[in-house]
Amino acid sequence: MSTNLLQQYEKTIVLTGLMGAGKTSVGRKLAKLMELNFVDVDEEISKAAGCSIEDIFEKYGEVAFRDVEERVMARLLNEKTQVLATGGGAIMNPRTLKLIKDNSVSIWLRADLDILVRRTSMKEGRPLLKNKDNKKILKKLLDERSPIYAKADITVDSCEEGPDATAKSIENALLMFSMKQLGSSNHEK
Ligand code: S3P
Repeated sequence: MSTNLLQQYEKTIVLTGLMGAGKTSVGRKLAKLMELNFVDVDEEISKAAGCSIEDIFEKYGEVAFRDVEERVMARLLNEKTQVLATGGGAIMNPRTLKLIKDNSVSIWLRADLDILVRRTSMKEGRPLLKNKDNKKILKKLLDERSPIYAKADITVDSCEEGPDATAKSIENALLMFSMKQLGSSNHEK
């Protein structure tokens, strides 16, 4: 019943949120639960550019990265219904934000600063954190970006119980959201 309702809604699901929020691990679990394809947008950008995200930042800078990110998002949002995990800064490009708003159900995977600091310290390869004070940078990004993340259709807390539990919470939230949307569109008819 729930899967049917979500299938009727037929929109790509976009996960947003800061580095370390768990977008990739939760996105994979969510896609499995919903029997949808999963794409990590940073991986697609790396493939398109033929080098790592770190190299793109180093060789061409953040502005060029955001342009490639926008193009890759436009392509992915034009494909079949799927689950996309975006890079944490994608929503800072107003054109990418609009693409997400117009073509998907967006989810802000919210996590507090301590969780973000702990999780990002476990993985290398994030240019914005390279050789920097993770906590200071993440606090600044959290302050700057939270009002934009909050524009997402749905906000779900990235819980300590792990990606399975968070994916389940998202599935429930999506069900409520799609019920409301389908209800209001039936009303308009
Ligand atoms: C970025 C987040 C990264 C990656 C790039 C920039 C950001 O993705 O896109 O390093 O601006 O927050 P994750 O959020 O998957 O780490």
